[in-house]
Amino acid sequence: MTDTGKRSVPPTVMVIFGASGDLTARKLVPALFNLSVDGLLPDKFFLIGYGRKETSDDQFKALLKDSLVAHSRRPITDAKWSKISPNISFHTGAYDDPASFEELKQRIDEIQQLSDEPLQCIFYLSTPPSGFLPILENLGNSGLARLHHNTTSASKVIVEKPFGRNLSSARELNQMINRRFSESQVYRIDHYLGKETVQSLLVQRFANSIFEPVWNRNYVSCVQITVSEDLGVGSRAGYYDRSGALRDMIQNHVMQLLALTAMEPPSSLNPEAIRDEKVKALQAVKPLSLNDSNYEVVRGVYSEGLVQGEKAIGYHDELGIPSDSSTETYAALCLQLDNWRWKGVPFYLRSGKRLARKVSEIVVQFTRPPAILFGQDARQPLSPNLLTIRIQPNEGVSLSLNSKTPGLETKLQPVNLSFGYDTTFGSNTPEAYERLILDAMAGDGTLFIRGDEAEYSWELLSPVLDAWDGQGGLGLEKYAAGTWGPLAADKLLLHRGHEWITKK
Ligand code: BG6
Repeated sequence: MTDTGKRSVPPTVMVIFGASGDLTARKLVPALFNLSVDGLLPDKFFLIGYGRKETSDDQFKALLKDSLVAHSRRPITDAKWSKISPNISFHTGAYDDPASFEELKQRIDEIQQLSDEPLQCIFYLSTPPSGFLPILENLGNSGLARLHHNTTSASKVIVEKPFGRNLSSARELNQMINRRFSESQVYRIDHYLGKETVQSLLVQRFANSIFEPVWNRNYVSCVQITVSEDLGVGSRAGYYDRSGALRDMIQNHVMQLLALTAMEPPSSLNPEAIRDEKVKALQAVKPLSLNDSNYEVVRGVYSEGLVQGEKAIGYHDELGIPSDSSTETYAALCLQLDNWRWKGVPFYLRSGKRLARKVSEIVVQFTRPPAILFGQDARQPLSPNLLTIRIQPNEGVSLSLNSKTPGLETKLQPVNLSFGYDTTFGSNTPEAYERLILDAMAGDGTLFIRGDEAEYSWELLSPVLDAWDGQGGLGLEKYAAGTWGPLAADKLLLHRGHEWITKK
């Protein structure tokens, strides 16, 4: 991570595997287009889409243009499009066809010959996970994944999530990648790390002196991380039913928010220094107990209900979901970190589909002030101070303070000091993928998940998934669509004298 704006990005050829997929259309190409509009792509930037379906260069460009109209942050104009379109092409080929990779190599060599500077090659794995192994093998065998260390022309690989489905598959995937690429060439995507507000978490914590003295077990009563969605599984039933909330959201996005909130200050902004501290935070998390009486893990599935006033069907009635599915659409955990800073402070994590509304936020709940001068009335105890970091929507930060209401009586009420990104900086913030693609091109791995980070996160959650597999549907709590999840998730907090703050 750099603390200055522009990074130098070497001339680049980017090959997107899975180029005809949804992610390419909705996120990757709009991100590249907006980087180009901002003048952040190198002058020599070449995009090769790689996919199995026979597609000509012109057909590919036409598809991309349509997707930009639908998904670009900034409107597409002919002038802006013509800046990148001449260097876009499509390569039809199977992921397991060595000959096709030889042809790809020739194509890249030809582009290289026209350039007087060395080009870096970036291979973006945006296929379903079954495509990863053959692609990596063929990149290796064809010589495309040359193992350069710390040179500007080193090839790089960007790997989309899901990164494995449990600890053993994540380890296997890491080994597979590391046979062909060294760790410094690997960029594992978690798009939450590219969100502006997630990046600014580090700044809020470490560029302000007021938080550090209270950011520990002496002043923090609990930390709550909520990543909720009001949408259901939509058209992704096939993927989602094999995944579930723990794999889809908690293992990656939510655990990353936890690591950034709990980590120690890094010694520098060097990517490894930051990732080392995140890993240490993950290592400190105590293994979860699945014993019900410990109130540490809850899973649920939505039944029919009302979401934002609209009728919503239950998960088992969604198209493509088997009626006997035991996949969870909601998961809540209570984690404890066994280290000097956090010992005894519960970290509550939850994520789910078809909840009351879409919100991602971190709430740090401080200890209650002593009820000496104020708050002696047991019916109206003093509210704890809350620091709320709103990742999305209404990105911003607020701090609640107890204040006196105007009047002759001394009555107290919590009020908010609030900062909103939109009102302060205006809207039109870059999309997460813009930042991530730019960082990968510039060789900055800070906002990507290191191999060991992915494994520590799985190490914690794999036993939970194994136990759930063994239980089938037993213990899968129902919640009505449009609510805040199963009641058992409230008990998780009540048991420790807390309640969910994000509930309106
Ligand atoms: C993805 C999940 O990683 O994140 C989706 O696979 C989820 O299921 C999405 O909807 C949420 O992302 P965001 O940025 O909308 O919070």
